[in-house]
Amino acid sequence: MMLKRFSFLKDKANASFQDLVAEAKQREIPEHIAIIMDGNGRWAKRRALPRVAGHHEGMKVVRKITKFASELGVKVLTLYAFSTENWKRPKPEVEYLMKLPQEFLGTFLPELVSENVQVRLMGHKEGLPAHTLAAVERAMAETAHNTGMVLNFALNYGSRDEMVYAVKNLVTDSIEGKFTAEDVTEQLLSSYLMTSSLPVQDPDLLIRTSGEIRISNFMLWQIAYTELWFTEDYWPDFTEAHLLEAVMSFQKRGRRFGGV
Ligand code: FPP
Repeated sequence: MMLKRFSFLKDKANASFQDLVAEAKQREIPEHIAIIMDGNGRWAKRRALPRVAGHHEGMKVVRKITKFASELGVKVLTLYAFSTENWKRPKPEVEYLMKLPQEFLGTFLPELVSENVQVRLMGHKEGLPAHTLAAVERAMAETAHNTGMVLNFALNYGSRDEMVYAVKNLVTDSIEGKFTAEDVTEQLLSSYLMTSSLPVQDPDLLIRTSGEIRISNFMLWQIAYTELWFTEDYWPDFTEAHLLEAVMSFQKRGRRFGGV
């Protein structure tokens, strides 16, 4: 199959998708990929469908991309599913979004278990409806002994909120005498963030769909040296080929982390 998405790679124009996957796997695969899944509403609007239809379609893409990221050998896939700012949306849309983890995990949990994926939650549990939290916690418990890719759902997550929470806990621990101001290092602060227990804390690659070129309060500390990749396409139209293109773009970049 010749892929239209890759037609810009003239020398690879005749390569099949699986050839390209095999080639990418011989190079450095980003260990932690984070995705801002944007454009569900516009996808639906374009089809004269209610916004929630876009979220439902987006949920199916989550399944597809989870499988493919795991196949590529990604260690952590963080998905921005609901931000601390998303509560401002109309109540029915919020309620719908809060039911999606249940539907997703209710349908695909056995698949995640068999694919050795570990489900995690990044965000404040307080504030999530009980049924949403119960679904995620059940998935976390059932996949806790898996050893493969971590599927890290950012739900009720905001980066500034994460930092405020981290500083509050850090100050409390300091007052309790656990350390002094001189002991505060980047490493110590990181240990108070919601990414502290992930096998790879900082994303190597951040993807945002739908043509918006902004970060929207997502992992501000953790993306200090992350490679960014944007696509005009809406999240429900995101495919394995998009992810592969982003990974191949990552592989062409020379990361220097401030060095030369
Ligand atoms: C942004 O698009 C998307 C969201 C706020 C929700 C993302 C959620 C999913 C993709 C489904 C999550 C699935 C699981 C399993 C939890 P938007 O609505 O802001 O789009 P717009 O900018 O076009 O309006």
